[in-house]
Amino acid sequence: MALIKRPQGWEIPESEATPESTYLNRRQVLKRAAGLAIAPVLASTQAQADHSGETDPLVTGKQTNPPAADLYPVLRNKTFKLDRHITNERVAAMFNNFYEFSTTSKTNIWKLVEHFETHPWTIKVEGLVKEHKTYDVDALVRQMTLEERLYRLRCVEAWAMAVPWTGFPMKAFIDLVQPLSSARFVKMTTFMDPDNAPGQKPRFGIFPSGPWPYVEALSMEEATNELTMLVTGIYGHPLTKQHGDPIRLITPWKYGFKSIKSIVKIEFVKDQPATFWNTSIPHEYDLVANVNPNISHRRWSQSSEWLIDAEKERRPTVIYNGYGKWVAHLYDT
Ligand code: MTE
Repeated sequence: MALIKRPQGWEIPESEATPESTYLNRRQVLKRAAGLAIAPVLASTQAQADHSGETDPLVTGKQTNPPAADLYPVLRNKTFKLDRHITNERVAAMFNNFYEFSTTSKTNIWKLVEHFETHPWTIKVEGLVKEHKTYDVDALVRQMTLEERLYRLRCVEAWAMAVPWTGFPMKAFIDLVQPLSSARFVKMTTFMDPDNAPGQKPRFGIFPSGPWPYVEALSMEEATNELTMLVTGIYGHPLTKQHGDPIRLITPWKYGFKSIKSIVKIEFVKDQPATFWNTSIPHEYDLVANVNPNISHRRWSQSSEWLIDAEKERRPTVIYNGYGKWVAHLYDT
């Protein structure tokens, strides 16, 4: 019998990898290379570029002066490799799901978030935990060890992207806050602010009564898995608002709706929490929501996916989005 090498996790030939320079700007590349402060001349070039971009999705969704911006970019954790090119940053910045701002469009979220304030921002930690405490996110980012990881993101709507996220393992945060042994789930909640996020207004869009705010949850085993990240940056800079500034979840083996944006509360609980999608449309969205080509969604076949910056490039969907090496054991029955 011929031996077939089964790649573990994602392995990408060097020829397919996108060089950093295609998404890092010159300032970032230089800063990363030298580990030095930015030369004034380059900074002013960058400022001019930013200034001219008032309607630029890469600028509009950013804070003008995010307090922890000096921390980025950070070193990449090379354990996590891609099987495809990194998604074009501009395309990712103009193709978003953020139902708090629009339930009908993906392509104008970057404009709708413009006046939404994301700094200062706090996260409450509550429930079955050593101490109930409120964390200032800009201070927390300085306290944690940041790393960059290249992850694929697969939406249940069958589109996919591959993005450099910056953040820290959720396990590191859990070690910091020390949940009690009775905690079985982590419940995460997004802000509630209908004045600034019109999607949350009653009778707006597709959720007439809406189970707002957006809530997601993971089992403790999933939350402490090596892959699970709390993300504060993207493409080598702080998160943009359309991607969930200032802090969001990323679980790359699950459909994108699990990756809750702009988190304000993390609770440790004993019983399975009610989540936004599972409550809204329970027969379409389950709590676990692992990427699986064999289980079709009522509206989307999950057998293949398309890349948001190369629509014609349809690829077969892979179980656990290719991250089975890290997570399959969690679901062995
Ligand atoms: N988080 C909140 N709070 N609100 C949302 O509407 N959409 C989810 C997820 N997190 C969503 C959210 C869905 S359906 C997807 S696919 C991803 O965010 C999209 O992330 P992106 O816009 O950064 O690509």
